[in-house]
Amino acid sequence: MENIKIGLLGFGTVGQGVWKVLEKNHIAFENQAGFTFEISKVLVSDLGKEREINPGEGILTMDPDEILEDDSIHIVVELMGGTDGAKKYVEKALEKKKHVVTANKALLALYGKELTATALKKGVQFRYEASVAGGIPILHSIRESLTANRIKRIMGIVNGTTNYILTKMSREGVLFEDALEEAQRKGYAEADPTADVDGYDAAHKLALLAALGFKSGIDFQQVYREGIRKMTPTDIEFAEELGFVVKLLAIGMEEDGKMELRVHPTFIEKEHPLAAVNDAFNAVFVEGNAVGELMFYGKGAGDLPTASAVMGDILSIASHWNHSSPPSYQLDFSETGKNIKSMD
Ligand code: NAP
Ligand code: HSE
Repeated sequence: MENIKIGLLGFGTVGQGVWKVLEKNHIAFENQAGFTFEISKVLVSDLGKEREINPGEGILTMDPDEILEDDSIHIVVELMGGTDGAKKYVEKALEKKKHVVTANKALLALYGKELTATALKKGVQFRYEASVAGGIPILHSIRESLTANRIKRIMGIVNGTTNYILTKMSREGVLFEDALEEAQRKGYAEADPTADVDGYDAAHKLALLAALGFKSGIDFQQVYREGIRKMTPTDIEFAEELGFVVKLLAIGMEEDGKMELRVHPTFIEKEHPLAAVNDAFNAVFVEGNAVGELMFYGKGAGDLPTASAVMGDILSIASHWNHSSPPSYQLDFSETGKNIKSMD
């Protein structure tokens, strides 16, 4: 059986999650794909760090070129986060004609258009299912299964950390800072949790959902964004007295070629299905002009749910291994001429 070699950039929550899923399910993967899968190198920033998983002698490295310059590595999986370093390494991997999988929504929201164009030019695959809503296969559903629809609305809870914080504050009266610390310990938060708390992460995800759902150009800077930092226990109590719960919602609407994209805390009636989405769970509501209303629900953050989406991308790449023209997952729809409506 041919061996597919994988280089991981990053071995934190998600990187170690991918290792665990591969270890747990590798026999099924081999039977399904007809390949064996081996993580042969892993980039980290600190070789001496204590980790749940010890990948074995010689696998960890602090030199990205041990992965990017190694012609025997077929797939590079970027799970380090951040934008500048990640962009440099992903670009280099694509230039070297390696397939790339990433979970990095910040990278995609800023540079997705050019990176997907490079992948297309080089004839390699660039996949990013884990970048939105963790384990929920929302991008695949929008891009493939719902392609017969004109999507009018995409709305949901797409950040696990803030949903965890709001749940803890409202159900257990936990203070904002303590709930954030718990979310960090559980591996839900970004390395800089400002991205979660101030709504940047949800805005990155909304930009991607809108690009694929509305087939529009991505302009993340145009997404209206307000986080949950200013929410107090009193706000939450007040909402509850009135029959509402507070959720950080990402809302995208398209009408007559104009889009409205916004992320902000929202009062939701207690009976609404989104009100029952708690902890680090995510839910995405999609309305298409043929299918009607759909709701996707599941774990939006954490090691194994996110690794499930990453590994799904790797297996999907393997399923197209010997095809001369792999499917394109481009993020450039600017020729459609759709613009984001100003929120002023
Ligand atoms: P993490 O736990 O902070 O892990 C990051 C890993 O990357 C660490 O192993 C770190 O090395 C390594 N790293 C970071 N910068 C590096 C650099 N410049 N050079 C070499 N190694 C570097 O992050 P994570 O939670 O796994 O998230 C990874 C990515 O997945 C992010 O883009 C995030 O947005 C995305 N994501 C995360 C989740 C989640 O639930 N956590 C869900 C969906 C998507 P050390 O270990 O040596 O520090
Ligand atoms: N920090 C992100 C969240 C990870 O809390 O949703 C999943 O994308």
